[in-house]
Amino acid sequence: MADKVKLGFIGSGGIVRGHLDHGLKNFDDVEFAGWCDLNPETAGARREQVGGQGRIFTDAREMLDEAKPDAVYIMLPPYAHGPAEDLVIERRLPFFIEKPVAIDLATATKVAEGVEKHGLITSVGYMTRYRKSVQRVRELLQSQTPVLMHGGWLGGGPKVYEGIWKWWVQKDKSGGQFLEQTTHTTDLARYLYGDVASVYATAVVDRKERPDFFTMEDASMVQLTFANGAVATLYSSVSTSVGGGVSLTLWATDMKAVFTGWEHNVEIDLPGGEHISIPGEDDIFAKEDRAFVDSVRAGENRGILATYEDGLKATAIACAANESMETGEIVVIGS
Ligand SMILES: NC(=O)c1ccc[n+]([C@@H]2O[C@H](COP(=O)([O-])OP(=O)(O)OC[C@H]3O[C@@H](n4cnc5c(N)ncnc54)[C@H](O)[C@@H]3O)[C@@H](O)[C@H]2O)c1
Repeated sequence: MADKVKLGFIGSGGIVRGHLDHGLKNFDDVEFAGWCDLNPETAGARREQVGGQGRIFTDAREMLDEAKPDAVYIMLPPYAHGPAEDLVIERRLPFFIEKPVAIDLATATKVAEGVEKHGLITSVGYMTRYRKSVQRVRELLQSQTPVLMHGGWLGGGPKVYEGIWKWWVQKDKSGGQFLEQTTHTTDLARYLYGDVASVYATAVVDRKERPDFFTMEDASMVQLTFANGAVATLYSSVSTSVGGGVSLTLWATDMKAVFTGWEHNVEIDLPGGEHISIPGEDDIFAKEDRAFVDSVRAGENRGILATYEDGLKATAIACAANESMETGEIVVIGS
């Protein structure tokens, strides 16, 4: 590979702006080859962000064949996944994909099969895994038996239905808050406690006046039973205007850990009154981007902490939760 990794982007909206601003645009071993977005102005705005590097496309196939990136960032809303991944896999390119990896399990399973078949390097945007607080708790858990956890994402919901908030509130586009947003906590729960065996979920609806296109739940409670027998309750709400935020509290046999805020500050209690505080980082995207670019350059995983398989597993949990909300039944994962 040349000195610089040539990157192409499929979907060039808000989260791409975030990755660039948080560090990617300053990586000196990266070159921006192509920006694809259905909206060329959005692609153009990203191009401007990196001083005019790279060409603008509205078609992913053209971007891949003409800009010839070494690696691809797939930064699409949940409903748009599938065709872009097919094109990238056909060309055997490594890719970084934002969470959630799909809105349905069939799409994610097919992509996972392609990734595995061709041994592709992948990274999924579960940036919370890269935090010092999370790494410390995971380390401490190695000598513990997990017991319980609860947490989630609580907020008041969008004030205006523009930009991402227009698709976000439509369940058939976003998959709902649990699939689209609380997926960060679902993934964290799996990262800390292991695979999930079954899911039971309840939806809360009709809490507020909403426009007709607002089709996702106002809130939900999702109960996970892990393969090792521990349990978690994860909540999501867009109906709590006085706040609530992001949190996860867990108990293992000899520890309690309380994560708070998007940055996942943690307070850990251990036997004998031992207490550990670790502040979360404001800037975490650069760490996961660094791991991806390093891995592409090396041709093997050099620090990626969440792969497509993790994205598939989080999607399986979310799809099971959506099914359970509909049927009122417990859904066994993998059934
Ligand atoms: N890791 C995080 O914390 C984080 C934060 C925000 C968003 N995200 C995720 O990133 C993804 C994108 O979110 P966003 O905020 O950038 O949304 P966005 O709406 O700002 O951008 C998405 C872009 O994709 C484009 N697009 C849609 N279909 C396309 C297609 N077929 N081909 C090319 N372009 C297409 C749209 O025109 C839009 O510009 C979502 O899955 C979201 O959950 C992750």
